Amino acid sequence: MAEDLHIPTGSRTEKYAVLFPQIASLVQSESDQTANLANIAAALKEVFGFFWVGFYLVKNGELVLGPFQGPVACTRIPFHKGVCGHAYTTGETIIVPDVDAFPGHIACASASKSEIVLPVKNQAGAITMVLDVDSDKLNDFSEVDQQGLEKIVGLISEVWQ
Ligand code: SME
Repeated sequence: MAEDLHIPTGSRTEKYAVLFPQIASLVQSESDQTANLANIAAALKEVFGFFWVGFYLVKNGELVLGPFQGPVACTRIPFHKGVCGHAYTTGETIIVPDVDAFPGHIACASASKSEIVLPVKNQAGAITMVLDVDSDKLNDFSEVDQQGLEKIVGLISEVWQ
């Protein structure tokens, strides 16, 4: 997939529909987690033009920056802090339409205006990472993104213990 990503046009719903099988093919044909997370971040950034797309991995009791696409970001997030910490502690996807209105939001870049964060669970149900997607537009995420991205993180969960 990395060599021949088909970049769909059309609505976000259509883009997620075309992208999903390509990401499925990617994660099923490569066993290295870092390589796959990096390509997933790159594909989401390329197809949707989001400001920042990346993973924070659960390591030694905190969230540590993993593969991402976009500007340099905060490297470590405590479980109880920020939007990422909220997704981790609740185990639920969170959409933040205006990051300035979210108490405790961690501003890695002032250009980030809205955000969606999804927990990624392993097959035992433990959260092993979160997927964080930031936009430079206010209110840029909806249920379409939640459903599209939840399907993608579901693939990660299927493949990795
Ligand atoms: N805004 C996030 C921190 C990560 S950066 O956006 C890349 C948060 O509040 O958890």
